[in-house]
Amino acid sequence: MTDLQTTITTTDDKRPSPGIPEHVAITGGTSGIGKALAMHYAKPGRLLSIIGRNETRLAQVARDCRDLGAVVDILQADVTNADAMHDWLHTRDDHQPIDLLIASAGMGGVDVVPPSSGEDGPLARQILSTNTFGVVNAVTPLLSRMTGRRSGHIVIVGSISGAIGLPQSPAYCASKAAVQVYGDALRRLIGQHGVRVTNVLPGFVDTPMSQSLDMARPFCWPAEKAARRIARDVARGARQSVFPWQLRTLIGLQKFLPLALSDFILTQTIKHGWESADPKAD
Ligand SMILES: NC(=O)c1ccc[n+]([C@@H]2O[C@H](COP(=O)([O-])OP(=O)(O)OC[C@H]3O[C@@H](n4cnc5c(N)ncnc54)[C@H](OP(=O)(O)O)[C@@H]3O)[C@@H](O)[C@H]2O)c1
Repeated sequence: MTDLQTTITTTDDKRPSPGIPEHVAITGGTSGIGKALAMHYAKPGRLLSIIGRNETRLAQVARDCRDLGAVVDILQADVTNADAMHDWLHTRDDHQPIDLLIASAGMGGVDVVPPSSGEDGPLARQILSTNTFGVVNAVTPLLSRMTGRRSGHIVIVGSISGAIGLPQSPAYCASKAAVQVYGDALRRLIGQHGVRVTNVLPGFVDTPMSQSLDMARPFCWPAEKAARRIARDVARGARQSVFPWQLRTLIGLQKFLPLALSDFILTQTIKHGWESADPKAD
């Protein structure tokens, strides 16, 4: 694993207002929701620490955030590399305490849609490793530090699909269900030490991930709108940030249906067009 660290400084001495995070760390900040959040939080005097794998996109997001006045540090790393994540997050937290950690990195879209026989072992393990252990690797290095300081906010980007078992992507849904429960349990554990945990459960957001899907994306939100909504919910200390309301409502209702009826309805969603959604189909 090659790590690339670049620090870009600004001479702007304006500081964020009290109560506003001064050091925001974001995994998956090179694209989509994570990038939109990086741009949203990029302000004069704010420190951003951003992780992704793609060197070119990392350099670009660093430039874009610097142009908005932020101080930016980047790490080129895979979130499944627990040692790299641990070392870098500790280094960044030593430099200036991280107030807000956003775990947004994840794999999805066409990459997590298996053939109709289901995922093979390596794919299922890669999805679970990236989307679940990737979150654990981002969160755990900072837990004792944040609880010791009695401050900090952890934001876990899951998915509304974690609340339901979509037949199109069993391992993806499982990975998102896991981080949602992880976030809920963490909040109940560390809330007593003054650390907040917000689970983000988006529906479709218009990013390269969802654009890769050969299917309709009902109620799809632009990434910038999603970032604004997440930041608003984070600022008010919400336990969950769930959007859009239409999918939130549908999924809430689904919980009250008998399992046999849910199975029937969700099976219908793959009856038509499964082959076109199958990356291995001719
Ligand atoms: N878009 C949607 O409709 C939607 C809906 C619900 C939930 N979500 C969730 O939102 C999060 C962000 O997705 P997105 O839509 O913004 O997708 P995206 O545009 O494809 O961005 C994914 C980000 O994750 C990073 N990433 C992926 N695997 C990584 C790895 N192994 N190590 C380090 N970084 C990794 C990518 O960085 P590099 O390419 O630089 O590595 C990129 O910055 C994901 O957790 C996704 O599951 C998205």
